[in-house]
Amino acid sequence: MNVVRTIADLRAAVTRARGEGKRVGFVPTMGNLHDGHIALVRKAGQRADFVVASIFVNPLQFGPNEDLASYPRTLAADQDKLFEAGCHLLFAPTVEEMYPSGQTLQTIVSVPGVSEGLCGGSRPGHFDGVSTIVTKLFNMVLPDLAVFGEKDFQQLAVIRTMVRDLNMPVQIIGEPIVRAEDGLALSSRNGYLSADERATAPVLYRTLSQLAQRVRGGERDYPALLTEGENALRTAGLRPDYLEARDALTLQPATEQTTQVVILAAAFLGKTRLIDNLLVETG
Ligand code: PAJ
Repeated sequence: MNVVRTIADLRAAVTRARGEGKRVGFVPTMGNLHDGHIALVRKAGQRADFVVASIFVNPLQFGPNEDLASYPRTLAADQDKLFEAGCHLLFAPTVEEMYPSGQTLQTIVSVPGVSEGLCGGSRPGHFDGVSTIVTKLFNMVLPDLAVFGEKDFQQLAVIRTMVRDLNMPVQIIGEPIVRAEDGLALSSRNGYLSADERATAPVLYRTLSQLAQRVRGGERDYPALLTEGENALRTAGLRPDYLEARDALTLQPATEQTTQVVILAAAFLGKTRLIDNLLVETG
């Protein structure tokens, strides 16, 4: 696996692969890789001949009181995992390489509507930071396809909308959530949890599963169900940020007619913000 730190070296390596007639698949990440990220890399390897991953902790998508400084940076271990997963090229740029004139950009890519509410509601500016960096990365890699995790369900919806609205020639592939044995969705932020918090954390998934089960059983009073769910989270010691039932395709609030419902949650456990979601077919 080749590791490049500059946009020029990245472009040269991708141009070479493309010259050999290879289809390019791309997996953007912020590093501290776990099996969830690796599933995306393997999926890219099934759909493309040349797999590019990026590791860049993007300052633009972190709020002033968020964990930019403490976000885990584990490049050496990440490189080993990527190599093992069949990644061909790793792009790991510096902040200066990505934002040469500082982070006050003249151009921001914004996807209103789908980026409002949920995580967009509690993290102002977050999705502008995501859609802007993903646009920059797409323009640097020029991939045929890119793989994103359903773990960040709203992020995937934002990227799909952006790609469609701006006619970006990239196929977006969503990959299901990879979980620990006790159901907790794998996340780089799980590393912040104390042993006690880690033991409590699967309550988030269990609560979503219980709600999903009841929706499958025919219950449709979403406000009542979600209030019960929030109480269950609080009782277990989590502080819910949001718990919502949305249409999985539009991210509009779920109604009795919605056939593909996604139940999405964000909750604090101590200082750590956990997110998770579960799809429910009701049709
Ligand atoms: P990061 O949090 O590192 O996640 C990179 C990709 O891995 C995202 O598409 C995310 O949805 C996926 N992922 C994370 N945990 C997962 C899990 N348990 N199962 C399946 N997929 C999982 O998301 C970002 O970085 C950034 O916002 C980025 C898109 C790189 C832009 O900076």
